[in-house]
Amino acid sequence: MKPILEIADLKDLARRRVPKLFFDYADSGSYTEGTYRANESDFARIKLRQRVLVDMSDRTLETTMIGEKVRMPVALAPTGLTGMQHADGEMLAAKAAEEFGVPFTLSTMSICSIEDVASVTKRPFWFQLYVMRDREFVKNLIERARAAGCSALVLTADLQLLGQRHKDIRNNLSAPPKLTPKHLCQMAMRPRWCWNMLKTDRRTFRNIQGHAKNVSDLASLGAWTAEQFDPKLSWKDVEWIKKQWGGKLIIKGTLDVEDAKMAARTGADAIVVSNHGGRQLDGAHSSIAMLPRIVDAVGHRIEVHMDGGIRSGQDVLKAIALGAKGTYIGRPFLYGLGAMGEQGVTKALEIIRKEMDVTMALCGKRQLADVDKSIIAENPF
Ligand SMILES: Cc1cc2nc3c(=O)[nH]c(=O)nc-3n(C[C@H](O)[C@H](O)[C@H](O)COP(=O)(O)O)c2cc1C
Repeated sequence: MKPILEIADLKDLARRRVPKLFFDYADSGSYTEGTYRANESDFARIKLRQRVLVDMSDRTLETTMIGEKVRMPVALAPTGLTGMQHADGEMLAAKAAEEFGVPFTLSTMSICSIEDVASVTKRPFWFQLYVMRDREFVKNLIERARAAGCSALVLTADLQLLGQRHKDIRNNLSAPPKLTPKHLCQMAMRPRWCWNMLKTDRRTFRNIQGHAKNVSDLASLGAWTAEQFDPKLSWKDVEWIKKQWGGKLIIKGTLDVEDAKMAARTGADAIVVSNHGGRQLDGAHSSIAMLPRIVDAVGHRIEVHMDGGIRSGQDVLKAIALGAKGTYIGRPFLYGLGAMGEQGVTKALEIIRKEMDVTMALCGKRQLADVDKSIIAENPF
């Protein structure tokens, strides 16, 4: 096996180990995938200032996100169907994050349930909420997150209807996945994945099945999911959610200055500048392009986090330099998980940590608190 040196190596390995329909589910954006690509390519356009002959000993990447100590400001983003990249994927990723010292965020649309993840972790994780029409179900979900000791609720605001992903349609991916002969063939080509999947019984949306009204089997679960995302969700509902939860609240999916100002007014603890990894509004700007003006507008009132396109420690450092207090990774940890399970998630985090540490030093800084716009190079042309 070739050495795993960068996130792209984990992606290559995941492509070989995860059935095509699930690998494609992670490696896709909506429509033309223009925003998905921009998230990555806009990072590459930002250049760093090389500084020399400054003391670069005793470095640390430690900081806080919403008041919680983190070994580096990189949380695992909520991702649906993570337990299809690898059997028990959410539990493995949560364990890796806990061991490493960064937050793990569990998606509403996860395979492993809130209780499953709580059963294998000691430290609190974060729970991401999709708001469904059935508010009793939402109330109950929030209650379960509280009972599991979750320390933050991440309210996703940018997916009340779904941006179309062509690859998922071409692959005939449904939620939850239905197995066609083509899918079975794709899975048969990935024996390691199949073997692990046969050893677990966690293969459906366990936050939902058995908890939502009239959802008892796969067919009713599919129908429920399709009709439940509430398109009427508005700022008024945030107040209700805040009241039900009563704890730290993060609003995810704010990509516009006006929306960021609205979010700050709700009294939330943080916002995530995000376009859902380029999976929703195709044609929107990249997250990193929008970050500086959002920080300018609300950074003094609310903690600003960002995600989308981070593929290296250099990218994280650029986001921090442009004002983010924290970042999240989606695909990088999914590729790690698909490639090597829990060990692969740890590897993804370790790669990013090392890159970030060396890059910070080569920019002449020894701690994150000193990283600001001064490490960004001007365009010399
Ligand atoms: C496969 C996949 C599934 C996702 N599912 C969710 C989800 O259930 N809830 C959510 O808030 N965001 C979801 N997202 C968006 C991520 O939380 C995050 O915003 C995005 O992945 C960041 O971009 P990156 O993958 O380039 O790091 C998903 C992203 C991917 C790639």
